[in-house]
Amino acid sequence: MSALVAQNVAIGVTGGIAAYKTCTLVRELKKLGADVRVAISESTREFVTDLTFATLSENPVVTSLFSGNETSGTTHIEMARWCNIFVVCPATAHFLARAAVGMANDFITTTLLATRAKVLICPAMNSVMWEKQVVQENIKKLQQLGYEIVEPEWGALATSDEGEGWGRLPEIQNIVSRIQHCLLATDDFKGQKVIVSAGPTREAIDPVRFLTNYSTGKMGFALAEVARQRGAEVVLITGPNHLDKPNGVKYLEIESAAELQAVITNEYDDCDILLMTAAVSDYRPRVVLKHKLKKKAGEFQLQMVRNADILAELGKKKTAEVHVGFALETESGIANATKKLSAKNLDFIVLNNPLEPGAAFAGDTNVVTIISKDGLVDTLPKMSKKEVAHTVLDRVLHVLEAGSQPLAAG
Ligand code: CTP
Repeated sequence: MSALVAQNVAIGVTGGIAAYKTCTLVRELKKLGADVRVAISESTREFVTDLTFATLSENPVVTSLFSGNETSGTTHIEMARWCNIFVVCPATAHFLARAAVGMANDFITTTLLATRAKVLICPAMNSVMWEKQVVQENIKKLQQLGYEIVEPEWGALATSDEGEGWGRLPEIQNIVSRIQHCLLATDDFKGQKVIVSAGPTREAIDPVRFLTNYSTGKMGFALAEVARQRGAEVVLITGPNHLDKPNGVKYLEIESAAELQAVITNEYDDCDILLMTAAVSDYRPRVVLKHKLKKKAGEFQLQMVRNADILAELGKKKTAEVHVGFALETESGIANATKKLSAKNLDFIVLNNPLEPGAAFAGDTNVVTIISKDGLVDTLPKMSKKEVAHTVLDRVLHVLEAGSQPLAAG
């Protein structure tokens, strides 16, 4: 864990049951050496006392715009200027709505407007509330405004009828590592050209039909976004998708595996890191019909020919420093992924099984195992795809650092 010595972290705690977890967040940040100040909303006091946060943070707690604890009438400005990061945890649906329209009707929303620091918002709420269109629209708006969102996870909820659902505050360690990334690692990929392939491919059968798969591109888009946030020059090459195009990346669209191969090869010469999340079709119809295929009586057989294995081909001439593959396996995952790792000359491979809960194609979370070429097998807990992206990039940094170590004498 990277230390946070000399980092000023302001935490706004809005009134949800997850507020009790923010106590652990404050403790963990203090352990890492950060100076922490907490502001709590009126309703937070129903869940956790001021004294708890004051004791853990070793600083007075601000409880309202004019609570009497302040040294002047501009405490929000002081805190807004003082902090290197402003974390709202947990963020209620009410807070999200007010922040999305720029309201400044309490200490936390006013500080949000007054700060130039990085802002990290950690929503937590009942799953029905989280899934409401208006809440999702507010989240989108906040992202467009430049605030970073730590997406809630699936899990046991205090207020869900089913007992489980979306809306649970992520593990505190995940929030701590997001804070560390914001504060320490924003530029750790500066100067690196990262190619990310994403989404499905489409192999045409005739003018109206094609073969494809269930990939949505979410994992690749998360990687592209996080790599750009961490300073990389990013080329995102993607198959058809319904996602918002990430800002600040070179965005190239493809359909077939052959197009993907041509575009990647064109971009590869000065590439430093290749992250191949695309779900590439291994076969294509032998001929693409010029006219719509008409039905006939009886069975129908489509003749298919092999597509190139793009990653294996690039692996043969590997000039980039790091190649990462993504293996999709529904059985014998580790054995099959390990074979792909060596056959495609990869530095590591990220294995996932779409049949596992939390790892489905269109989901926002993933459960992955990272297998390195030195034989290390590391199964990670269920995380948001963004969190997986950060973890994958941290591994890439390890590979780069190991590669730049001088060889031991002897
Ligand atoms: N890949 C590729 N070109 C292909 C097929 C796959 O570059 N024609 C890449 C994928 O982008 C992924 C990795 O290889 O990073 C593993 O893909 P996966 O579909 O899991 O495996 P395959 O090699 O296609 O093997 P199989 O279908 O037999 O599991």
